[in-house]
Amino acid sequence: MSDLSINFAGIKAPNPFWLASAPPTNSGYQIMKAFDQGWGGAVWKTLGVPVINVSSRYGGLDYRGTRMMGFNNIELITDRPLKDNLKEIEEVKKHFPDHAVIASLMVETREEWHQIVRDVENAGADGLELNFGCPHGMCERGMGSAVGQEPEVIKMIVGWVKEVAKTPVIVKLTPNITDITVAGLASVQGGGDAISLINTIQSIIGVDIDNFVSYPNVGGESTNGGYCGPAVKPIALNMLKNCAQHPYINLPISGIGGIENWKDAVEYILLGAGSVQVCTAVMHYGFGIIREMIAGLEQYMDQKGFKTIDDMVGKALPKIKTWENLNLNHKVVAEINNSKCIECQLCYTACEDGAHQAIGINKEETRVPYIIEENCVGCNLCSLVCPVEGCITMKRKDNGKEVITWKEKTMAGDVPTTFDDERAGGAGHHVPKPADALKK
Ligand SMILES: Cc1cc2nc3c(=O)[nH]c(=O)nc-3n(C[C@H](O)[C@H](O)[C@H](O)COP(=O)(O)O)c2cc1C
Ligand code: SF4
Ligand code: SF4
Repeated sequence: MSDLSINFAGIKAPNPFWLASAPPTNSGYQIMKAFDQGWGGAVWKTLGVPVINVSSRYGGLDYRGTRMMGFNNIELITDRPLKDNLKEIEEVKKHFPDHAVIASLMVETREEWHQIVRDVENAGADGLELNFGCPHGMCERGMGSAVGQEPEVIKMIVGWVKEVAKTPVIVKLTPNITDITVAGLASVQGGGDAISLINTIQSIIGVDIDNFVSYPNVGGESTNGGYCGPAVKPIALNMLKNCAQHPYINLPISGIGGIENWKDAVEYILLGAGSVQVCTAVMHYGFGIIREMIAGLEQYMDQKGFKTIDDMVGKALPKIKTWENLNLNHKVVAEINNSKCIECQLCYTACEDGAHQAIGINKEETRVPYIIEENCVGCNLCSLVCPVEGCITMKRKDNGKEVITWKEKTMAGDVPTTFDDERAGGAGHHVPKPADALKK
């Protein structure tokens, strides 16, 4: 049986599923309820000098029937007095000594950092997370992402915290930066024990086209917010990969962004996360989603023969290379399973207008399209648009033995070097004549 327990940078938890610092971790009541249902850890809603929030704070992006595929907020850090939060941290730790309670922090001066670190540690926090990521409101005041975008300031503040911290320090990074590894490296240089990513992405979720106000509407006006939820997962995964593969960022990473089920969590772990954090999915579906997450992860680990989470961390990283090291001889073409086809012809339209005119239709006999194999470049588009699972599959055509990469070809002097070079990948490939467009 797999063991889900983790030791993340010295912070122990019964499983890698933590609540991210956000409304679900606003109070001891919520965190106790979550732990009771199975969550392994919680990062407390960011503590600091309490704020005053605006009312009307969230915006959702629905996509074709799916509610909140993306989520946007303009909420700030905690609006509750510190003493109330400290009392509740103490109480939660008393009831759940083996669960991870991490205090997210955001203050300004060195003295304030020292004071709040001592306060939360005295209350029993198992670790600290420095919020260098909030991309709205707090950054206007020189905190949050304003810190996370300045490597020197990251280094300085992590250093301040490490002067007094007795528990592990996680630096939470902002995605609102050109290269997140620069911030990751600054966290290492400041003496951080771990990093977490991502915080929200600065965003405008939409505009009310009748009233000319973007969302969320605060008395007829608005401001930019922070984007999260399933829509941000691909961006977060790439940033995770960049940090996990970086030769000098050898810190444990807590993965955050769009995680809503066990499979999302596994993807994060395989790309290098030692724990995962969840916000939007809990705001959408409640704490109960943890049951499926734990059961699914256990089953996956058993199937794959992973005994511990550490066995899985980063397993997919060696297979992510730079583009120049991919095999140019790898060749796939689309294949349609006629018996599954529902004759919608979406694949035909996609390939005809958006790809390489490699799908034909026989107007007289049947509506099932056919692949023109010599025109197919193996881009996958038709298989992605086809609404029937397994109806279009990509079949391998090369023998898998001859590998040649762009890097090798460059070194051998065998790549296009002039605009009209006949070694171009598409030279001689079928392209209809422009005038043929008007005949159909
Ligand atoms: C309403 C809301 C409030 C948030 N507040 C905080 C916060 O106080 N501190 C923090 O570090 N992150 C905060 N976040 C960011 C989340 O912790 C998390 O990094 C982000 O939402 C991405 O995860 P998700 O896609 O699972 O939501 C907040 C997010 C939301 C939606
Ligand atoms: S998209 Fe799929 S189901 Fe539709 S015509 Fe093409 S192969 Fe058939
Ligand atoms: S894989 Fe691309 S090029 Fe080939 S048939 Fe499908 S859409 Fe056309």
